[in-house]
Parts: sequence; structure tokens; C-alpha cells
Amino acid sequence: MRLFKPATLVTGSFVLALGLSACGNETKAPTAAKPTAAASKIVKDDKFTHANYDKVRMTHLSLNLDVNFDEKVLDGTATIDFKVVDPKTHILKLDTKDLTIRSVQGLGRNGQWAALDYTLADKDEVLGTMLEIPFSKGMNKVRIDYRTSPTAEGLQWLSPEQTAGKKKPYLFSQAQALNARTMTPVQDTPAVRITYDATLRVPDGLLPLMSAEQGDKDENGEYHFKMPQPIPSYLLAIAVGDIKFKAINDHIGVYAEEYILDASAEEFSETPLMEEANAKLYGPYRWGRYDLIVLPPSFPFGGMENPRLSFMTPTLIAGDKSLTNVVAHELAHSWSGNLVTNSSWRDAWLNEGFTSYVENRVMEDLYGVERAEMEQYLGLEDLKRDVANAARPELTHLKMPADLAHPDDAFTQVSYVKGQFFLMFLEERFGRAKFDAFLKQYFDTYAFKSLSTEDFIKYLHDHLHKDNPDALTRAELDAWVYGPGIPDTAKQPKPDAFTKVDKARTAWLAGDTAGDTSKWSTHEWLHFLNNMPDGLTNVQLKKLDDDFSFNGHQNAEIAFAWYMQAIKADYSDVDTELEKFLMTVGRGKFIYRLYGALAGLNDDASSWAKGVYAKARPGYHPIAQRRIDAVFAKADAEVEK
Ligand code: BES
Ligand code: ZN
Repeated sequence: MRLFKPATLVTGSFVLALGLSACGNETKAPTAAKPTAAASKIVKDDKFTHANYDKVRMTHLSLNLDVNFDEKVLDGTATIDFKVVDPKTHILKLDTKDLTIRSVQGLGRNGQWAALDYTLADKDEVLGTMLEIPFSKGMNKVRIDYRTSPTAEGLQWLSPEQTAGKKKPYLFSQAQALNARTMTPVQDTPAVRITYDATLRVPDGLLPLMSAEQGDKDENGEYHFKMPQPIPSYLLAIAVGDIKFKAINDHIGVYAEEYILDASAEEFSETPLMEEANAKLYGPYRWGRYDLIVLPPSFPFGGMENPRLSFMTPTLIAGDKSLTNVVAHELAHSWSGNLVTNSSWRDAWLNEGFTSYVENRVMEDLYGVERAEMEQYLGLEDLKRDVANAARPELTHLKMPADLAHPDDAFTQVSYVKGQFFLMFLEERFGRAKFDAFLKQYFDTYAFKSLSTEDFIKYLHDHLHKDNPDALTRAELDAWVYGPGIPDTAKQPKPDAFTKVDKARTAWLAGDTAGDTSKWSTHEWLHFLNNMPDGLTNVQLKKLDDDFSFNGHQNAEIAFAWYMQAIKADYSDVDTELEKFLMTVGRGKFIYRLYGALAGLNDDASSWAKGVYAKARPGYHPIAQRRIDAVFAKADAEVEK
């Protein structure tokens, strides 16, 4: 057996060992022997930024903004503190996208602000527009007077009619992955961490919130925010609306529009237990308060881990706490992602795979192995689908390829579930006790730092594998990190509950009854539906719905799974409810696949879907609009072929 050890290497560097291996051909050379040093010396390896962050580094951002609902813009100034890393450098390069820059000033050594000449490069469709600011010796503060665009991809401005309350407008942001630059000039890379503060002016009667400590409204009617811990730019966040608050305990609570406030507090009432479980495993929660905000239905994600204030989709409010793994997930990011951050989007699995692993450990702790295994199983099925559909095999490696076109391509189930199963594999090989201690130490060592896959592998070697050399081989590790598909060392979860569901499905398909399904959880229903065979007839679809009432189901996950089956079978009786779903739900996980399935089915379904999309599109988030436009463009291109 070839052992997983670096001893034979000239430099003694394990990272370099991977660099020489057959699959790990895109790894960078090690930068330093110690992980802490490796994390602090920045080598520019994020290609999704214009920032010269290896030479000049932002340290603080101070925003002073009007939230202007009439014009749908944020308007004001961004003041940036920076540190020169390379003394030969006298240009600060920032990311912007669709911003109007009115002026740039620098704070001179004489304490006076003076205008600086700046240049804006040509716009790149993915990266946006580089803002170059020449600064003089000793200068470490610039101020940019700017406004955002009404069509900024990171901001959704909702009219009063688009809210539940119908009386007041709403704004919320989504900065991950590349949209902080549509909100403010910034070094928009997860390799750079900044503290921030903000002063916001909002119309009367609206409450602004940010991913920060919240100050009260002052005598001028301004709100003040402060984020004292250094965070990457993709965690900048703002929400403004007719938002109410309900406490869950002394440091956890829920914000939402009135109509869903009580239900949200009830649905998420176990968040304190999740925090305890998480802290017990990986060390204390380090961000002060933890609040959740339930956003309008056009929020394009299940959740977003904005620090101190996770943003959540209202489709989680199912009434039975069956979808709260998403809370466990966003909360878990307080360790994996927000505290310890991937240094480029090629390493997204360090955020999402770790978080999926931690999420599942917390679910196991709170609700038992059976639920945890059901969630593993459902995740693995999704991973298999994404692996099968990958445009090229490199997109199924944990380490994403150097020519990754857009960070979106890194956020498939590969980063989430393959990453999670890799950590489950390591846990199994080293044993839970050792692996838990290792992860706890990892979160502590890298707290408030960003790191790459190679940094992690070196840390794994130095702090776990070196003393347990027989636990795994290099080839096994390479297969997970730099190899395609799902390695055969992956765990095969086999929850008993799903075996029973399989029997029930087989019986039902044979014309018998499915037996007693009255106690089935959401997970069991999802497994029941997702594994229906191809080629169901319309008669069978009708019977499915007659027997189990899936159509218009109030649980969005079950409704979605049902519509996917209905589309596959071209069962158009669902069209009224499906249209309602598409008109009211903006969560990407559901709508991208629904439109994709409709567009790929046949001409009728495709044109029906285009008609629905034409009506629904103005209400969707700009991110969702871009993604669904691409779904139809791809389907049309395939028809032409
Ligand atoms: N950070 C992600 C959401 C995200 C990913 C935003 C990429 C922008 C770009 C968040 O933590 C997440 O993973 N959400 C999942 C929930 C989860 C339980 C898998 C989602 O939205 O479905
Ligand atoms: Zn996540």
C-alpha cells in the first residue's frame, strides 16, 4: 500500500507533493511552512477580482449611504482604509460593477482630503469594472463618492405591491459570490478581510438591518452599524423594509414581515439548540448575536450566512420544522466560511462542504442518526445528478479547475455533498474523536483567516495524518480532491426508513396500497417521489395525486419534487398550481430546475414555460433572472443543434 506521506519529497512539503501528483496539477507551490504564515502571506490566486490584493490590502470599509427607494439606488460614500504590502505599489485597484463614480479623494499626510485622479477600465461581464486609484506615499485612506445602479445584480428593490404587507417597499442584498462590487467599491475577494461600519438613511417607517452590530436610530434619524470582526466582502449585507422582530432567546431572534413573524419564530425555535450543538463540537460562537431574517419569497437561495444575520427563504416555513437543516447550515457557516474562509472560489468546498458536514453533525446531535442519514442520502442523490450532468469532469473535482468560468459553477452539489462526504470519509478513517478534535483546532487556528485547499491538505497532514499514517493513502485523498466523480470510498447511507419507503413505492406501483404513510416525514415523501421510475403514465400521476394530494402542497420541497415528476411525465393537470408556484417562489434551487425541465421536455412545455417566465421574471431577483435567461438560451441552442 502506498502511504500518504510526504517524507520522500525534496522540500519536505506535502503541498508540493500534491503539486507533483497526477491529478493535482493545478495546485500552487507552498508559500510557507507554517499554516498560520501561509494564511497571512497573500499570493494572488483569486482570478475573480481586479484587486491587486497581493500588493495593497483593504482593512476597513466605512459606508455612508442614502437608501433611495424612488431611484432604487444606494447613494453616498465609501471610505476605504488600506495597508500597503508591496512598498513599490502606488495604485489601489478595486472592484466595481455598474457603479457610478462621482469623485475619489485621498486623505493626505497633512490631514486634508484632496481629489485623486482615478481611472475606470472597460467593463468585464463577469468581473465588472476595475477602479484604479493612484495614491501618494503615506496615504492610507481614500473616499469614493458613488451611487449604485437600479439594476445592480446584488440588490433587489421590491415595490410595496411585491411585499406581503403591500404598503412599504423592501430592499435586500445578496453579495456572494461577485456582487459586493455592485453595492460598493471593494476588493471583492474572499482572500481579503475587512471590518466595516455604516451609516444609513432610510425612509420613515422602514427598518434597516445589516450583517453587523445594530445601533439605534440617532437624533438625525440615521442608523449606525458596526462589524468589528474582519469579514470577506461577500458577507456584506443589507435589508430594509417593514420588518418586525421576535426574540427566541437573549441573543437569538427572528426578523420578518409581520405576516410570517410568529410562524418563523416557531419554525426556528430550535436554533438555540443548534448553536449549542455546534459550539460543543467546534468551539464558541464568536459573533455576538445570531439572528435570522425571513425575506420575501423572491430571495433566490435557501439561506445566506450573512454574519450575525442569516438571510432565509420563506419556503422554509413548513409548519413542522422539517426543513430546518437550512438553519443548521447557515449557522454552521459561523465556523466554516465566515470564521475560516475559502481564499478563492475554486476552493468553495472549504466553505460549503465543511458547512454541509457540520450541518449534518448538528442534525444528528439534535434529531438522531436516522434523520442525519436520510439527509445524507437525499444529498448523495442530488450529487449523483450533478455529477452526471457536469459539463466537464474537472467540474466534479473538489478543487475547481483554474479555468472556472464563473463562481456559480463551483456551487453545485460537488462542493456541498462531495465535500461533506470527503469529510465523512476522513472522520471514518481517523475515528470520530480524533477528527472532531482536529476540526476544532482547525477552526481555531484559521479563525478570521482565508485559506486554500492546499493549505487545508497541508494542515491535515501536519495535524492529523502524520501521527496516523495508516489511516489513508495519497491516492485516496487525491481521488477525492483532484479526481472526478464520487470516489468508491464514499459512504453509502442506508436509512431504514428509506428501505421501507422503497417497499411502499414498489407496492403502490404494483397497484397495491403504499401502506400506512400517515407518519412519514418530509424526507420520506421526498424519497418516495424522487425515485419514481421513468415513464409513469398520466393515469398513474393522477392516482398519485388523488392518493397523496401533492398538487399545491404547502411544503415547498414536496411540491417541487412532485412538479418535477409531473413535468417528466408531461402531466399538464398540474399547470395551474405549477404556475402559481413559479409566480410566487423565487428560490433558485426549485425554479432553475423546473424551468430547465420544462424547456427540455417538448415545444409545448417549453413555450408554456416561456409564457410563465415572461410574467414571473420582473418579480424574480436579478441573480435568478440571469440564471433562468441562461436556462432558456441553452435549451434554445440545443434545439438548433
Ligand atoms: N452560501 C450559500 C448560498 C450561496 C452560494 C449564495 C453561492 C451565493 C453563491 C448558502 O450557505 C447555502 O449554501 N445555501 C443553501 C442551503 C443549504 C442547506 C444547502 C441553499 O440556498 O439552498
Ligand atoms: Zn452554505
